[in-house]
Amino acid sequence: MSETYNEQQVAIIAVEYAPNGELFDMIKRHKKLPGPIVKRYTRQILSAIHFMNTHGIAHRDLKCENILVDAQYNLKVADLGLSCQFDKDKFKGFSNSVVGTPSYMVPELKLSGAYQPYMCDLFSLGIMIFMMYTGHAPFAKADLEDPHFILIARNQYKNFWDQHKSTHEDNFFSEEFINLITLMLSMQPFQRIEIADIFAHPFVKEGPVATQDELLAFMLGRDQK
Ligand SMILES: Nc1ncnc2c1ncn2[C@@H]1O[C@H](COP(=O)(O)OP(=O)(O)OP(=O)(O)O)[C@@H](O)[C@H]1O
Ligand SMILES: [Mg+2]
Repeated sequence: MSETYNEQQVAIIAVEYAPNGELFDMIKRHKKLPGPIVKRYTRQILSAIHFMNTHGIAHRDLKCENILVDAQYNLKVADLGLSCQFDKDKFKGFSNSVVGTPSYMVPELKLSGAYQPYMCDLFSLGIMIFMMYTGHAPFAKADLEDPHFILIARNQYKNFWDQHKSTHEDNFFSEEFINLITLMLSMQPFQRIEIADIFAHPFVKEGPVATQDELLAFMLGRDQK
């Protein structure tokens, strides 16, 4: 008896085990993360995006479920199953494959069907920073039917922020945070802040950033309760 097999090449990526689960569950557990930890984590995810982008790779499915937490409570990007290559020299070129997770997708994907792949990662990062800082998403979906995103689409940023401010204590949102998120989640791709300017933005670059010891003290203190 003989059997026939179709051979196909597959790429297998072996990654380090991340024993502390997903960023998503960490946010759920702590409700929200302290500002200095949000800054540390923002820099880590941003560095990972920068590394991928300089190699011409866009992840296209960045979300809190695909960011893993290692033994030292630092973040690792996982799940490159929907990633693609783009022209890293020009940062041009469009994709029209509908991939990703609806709540993290760039609005142009639904509106025009074409998008620049590297834009997806920075837009998702904006959503993840918002989630780490507040414990909830800025909007359910970046489309014109969403009651929060429509305010961004219509440039009614004051209303957008007033709505979110009303669910938090006074002065919860810093000016730097509001400015960065506003620039990252703009409806128009050309109005969004570029990666170099995110690195240089005061929310990312300045102010207290949690050290490794402070990160462990916070995480272990809470996790051991
Ligand atoms: N290196 C790792 N260490 C620890 N957990 C991991 C690791 N890789 C993946 N996981 C866990 O498995 C989940 C699914 O992995 P991954 O995101 O790579 O696949 P997926 O295609 O999204 O699968 P699913 O549809 O189940 O989400 C992750 O969200 C994470 O909880
Ligand atoms: Mg996944």
